[in-house]
Amino acid sequence: MRDWMKLAGISPDEITDKAVFEKRRQLMRASVAAGVGGFIGGGVTSASAAPLSGDIIKTDWTTDEEHTSFDAATSYNNFYELGTAKEDPKRHARRLKTEPWSVRVEGACEKPGTYTLEDILKPHAIEERVYRLRCVEAWSMVIPWNGFALADLLKRFEPTSAAKYVAFETVVQDDLPGVRRNVLDWPYREGLRIDEAMHPLSFMAIGMYGEHMPNQNGAPIRLVVPWKYGYKSIKSVVTIRFQEETPETSWNLSQPSEYGFFSNVNPDRSHPRWSQAKERRLAGDSGGLSALFTPKIDTRFMNGYAEEVAGLYAGMDLQKFH
Ligand code: MTE
Repeated sequence: MRDWMKLAGISPDEITDKAVFEKRRQLMRASVAAGVGGFIGGGVTSASAAPLSGDIIKTDWTTDEEHTSFDAATSYNNFYELGTAKEDPKRHARRLKTEPWSVRVEGACEKPGTYTLEDILKPHAIEERVYRLRCVEAWSMVIPWNGFALADLLKRFEPTSAAKYVAFETVVQDDLPGVRRNVLDWPYREGLRIDEAMHPLSFMAIGMYGEHMPNQNGAPIRLVVPWKYGYKSIKSVVTIRFQEETPETSWNLSQPSEYGFFSNVNPDRSHPRWSQAKERRLAGDSGGLSALFTPKIDTRFMNGYAEEVAGLYAGMDLQKFH
């Protein structure tokens, strides 16, 4: 049994239970810093939960909204490398190999190179950020992520003035079911303008709900950009490239008229095939997945983060630059 479980008097088979999660949160709040070293060597090789060790810093980046349950957030996923059905990523999670892991840093920066996951994580204290995640498919979740500001990571590589954008790529493992079927042009690619990437809301997550990142959610390290549609939040990152040109992005390459580079959540700009004015939230944690969806709720401009990020787009026509 893991240490925190002993401390909290929890048995392993209770692990996804909400009461346990609440207990664990209290425990995390009370826990004494074990140092960030406790996070190193992370990465979950199976789909099961594995708690992060060490202290997790609470932040003001939170919300009063009900959290999506751990079970729902790890059972209803988009991770096309593992298959296109919502249940495929969990079903095939074990097939994603996350050890060893390294991230290649390239392009317009003073410190390019191949960094092991340990190198990447070493200097960073781990925070909790409770963010809304709004998928372009008009469903949403509320997830407590664990990780650190993307800006803090990027600054370590000393981007030069030519770094106008940051491109990201996901690992390509040929034996993954979605990769074999060429559903998209791999690697999965995403990108941000440098000011978006450096915005304090942009986050590199190595875990969620106090657990190491489950494979189906993008182990061992993924991006989370809460004011943009979920497809910008690229999973299982292996490449970070600083560049002068706008990066190619997977969904834009696949269907340019439907998916723009910016992809800011915008209830006033419909997807060509559906309205973006409302969404269904995965909330609660009982019953089957379809029972977890709330009735439709209003989608908020920039997913409710406009106060923080709207300034990044001052003067831009958001119907055109979508
Ligand atoms: N990253 C990769 N590599 N492959 C994907 O298919 N899907 C995206 C994004 N990141 C995707 C990805 C989409 S469409 C969404 S909505 C979110 O991941 C879903 O994240 P979640 O499954 O953790 O909720």
